[in-house]
Amino acid sequence: RLELWHIDPEANEAVAALQPAAEHLRTKDTPVAFTTETVYGLGADATRSGSVKGIYEAKGRPSDNPLIVHVSDLRMLRSLLGDKGSSDDVIPARYKSLIQKFWPGPLTILLPIPDPSPLAPEVTAGLKSFGVRMPSSPLALTLIKLAGVPLAAPSANASTKPSPTTAQHVKDDLDGRIEMILDGASCQVGVESTVVDGLCDPPVVLRPGGIGMEDLRSCPGWEDVVRAYKDQSEEGNVAPRAPGMKYKHYSPKARVVLYESTYRAGKDGIAAADADAAVALTNGHTHTQSTNGNSHKRVGIIRTKRWRAAAGLQCNDLHLSAGRDDDHGESSYEVYAGDLQNQEGDVIGEVFDISLGQDTKRIARGLFSALRELDRRGVAMIFVDGIDDELDIAAAVMNRLRKAASDIRA
Ligand code: TXA
Ligand code: MG
Repeated sequence: RLELWHIDPEANEAVAALQPAAEHLRTKDTPVAFTTETVYGLGADATRSGSVKGIYEAKGRPSDNPLIVHVSDLRMLRSLLGDKGSSDDVIPARYKSLIQKFWPGPLTILLPIPDPSPLAPEVTAGLKSFGVRMPSSPLALTLIKLAGVPLAAPSANASTKPSPTTAQHVKDDLDGRIEMILDGASCQVGVESTVVDGLCDPPVVLRPGGIGMEDLRSCPGWEDVVRAYKDQSEEGNVAPRAPGMKYKHYSPKARVVLYESTYRAGKDGIAAADADAAVALTNGHTHTQSTNGNSHKRVGIIRTKRWRAAAGLQCNDLHLSAGRDDDHGESSYEVYAGDLQNQEGDVIGEVFDISLGQDTKRIARGLFSALRELDRRGVAMIFVDGIDDELDIAAAVMNRLRKAASDIRA
């Protein structure tokens, strides 16, 4: 049985409401899903092997992919690192500026595993370092504090799926595998934390996320930080350094076609510039959905460009009629449903069109949800506008999209 608890983390009753969940985390071996400011996490007591194994089981996650440890305060982190109260701080000096600036928040740092280690070995999958962050979500902070132990928590999706940004996403993936979802305020960031390694020189970004490169560079000791993750668009062969990066990730059921360079050409986006290509691809790849023998194509579009009038929008074969779809329960974007027509004007299927707007933060917030929404509509293809990945959270957006768009490039 899956229990869904709506909790207002700012309310006075929040602490009382979270007590049973904290108790569950301390004593049971099944993980608990909870809101963070990035994406939903699937948490377990990081100090007990039994409960950490429960995470891998529920997610179907390969056991050599390490988990991020979540702490509620620096005291918890210091005691994890074996602080003996001497004057030497157990937290490496290079992280001081980052911790001060970005915690609590969407930044994960790598630290050496102390010896002896209070962490269950399953958390780190045999590595010499562990990732840790202090989330800013009030629900997450209160939960960790009440549990009194650090929580290991990967994103609460089934392995390979896009990360969940609503409780419903978690339910869609893990119903029958977990017992409890704590549903607090929505995930404000929408993509996962930035993972950095400051134990090497120069320090590196292992995964782009909620904190941008230029924000890191503004911190003392981080001026020379470099990217150590591999984006498919880049030349050269950078070995994947974050173990999680070598697995299939962020994949909806539909095939994702990423229009990598529309922003560079100053184009208007998919619908305006590339409808021909989209239709060619659609004709080539869309599988048959219908049960009555008619071929019925469903395609999805995710736009990050100037929004063109949706009413009666006609671009070559793609005809989109406006129609606000109120079924999706999300405020960050709208889904327009329309007819997919061939050259002769025959309706051959449906188009579901989502505009995430042009604001990068908003795009990040809605991205995973949009991919999942289009899956829910049963589309076979999703066409997505690329964005300029030079700055801030846009790097994270493009990183996730490049992973989702496995083999087709446009
Ligand atoms: O925002 C987030 O980070 C979310 C929320 C729930 O906090 N968590 C999350 O966890 O995204 P997960 O497990 O889905 O991704 C963790 C990433 C993986 O790419 C993993 O390989 C990397 O962090 N990672 C964790 N520990 C590591 C370590 N010791 N060395 C290198 N990479 C590590
Ligand atoms: Mg994940």
